[in-house]
Amino acid sequence: MQGIFISMEGPDGSGKSTQMELLKTYLETKGYEIIITREPGGTKISEAIREIILNKEYSEMGYMTEALLYASARAQLVSEVIKPALDSGKAVISDRFVDSSAVYQGMARGLGVDNVYKINEFAIQGVMPDLTIHLDLPAKLGIGRKNEQKELDRMELETLDFHVKVAEGYRELAGKSPDRIYTIDATLSIEDIHKIIVDKIEEILNNMQI
Ligand code: TMP
Repeated sequence: MQGIFISMEGPDGSGKSTQMELLKTYLETKGYEIIITREPGGTKISEAIREIILNKEYSEMGYMTEALLYASARAQLVSEVIKPALDSGKAVISDRFVDSSAVYQGMARGLGVDNVYKINEFAIQGVMPDLTIHLDLPAKLGIGRKNEQKELDRMELETLDFHVKVAEGYRELAGKSPDRIYTIDATLSIEDIHKIIVDKIEEILNNMQI
């Protein structure tokens, strides 16, 4: 079986985790062994880096430091989890991947998308998702949902303006990579979103078997 890598992207609160669980169940019916992971995180070291990045006490963190920490957490996740899983024919579903850095650090922080991809080229070792699901949600709605669920972390505590840039950034990025990034309206019902994702994946699986 050929491995498949799917990343889920979108603003905070866009409903990625719910869709990932549904997607996992669907891919299991297709005979895949599934690895679910998240960024930053997914390995012991990457989770430790996550604690540093999201700690709201580190409000002085520089944008370059932030971008490099995300990339280093990613490098460990790629070598320890994603690459071996794909090599052995598994399906990897990741809650965020390199596009999050392109949007949050490259666009919303203003470091530049090209600069951010350059740093990450080293970290991802040629591994890119076969499909990226972009759950598109207005920033205000997403951050409102998060606020109801839990205490906000360092990134979620950013200004509404920052989150607006994130939501717009995703739309821009998706427009530039229409073959890989598939945008879905995240205000639709959970069931409708899942159905749209399944239809898209069926299409990709059919193409992979050719
Ligand atoms: P999460 O809340 O979806 O787990 O993601 C953690 C936060 O980190 C979220 O606000 C998005 C942000 N983030 C970046 O800014 N750059 C990245 O490369 C990644 C993976 C996440």
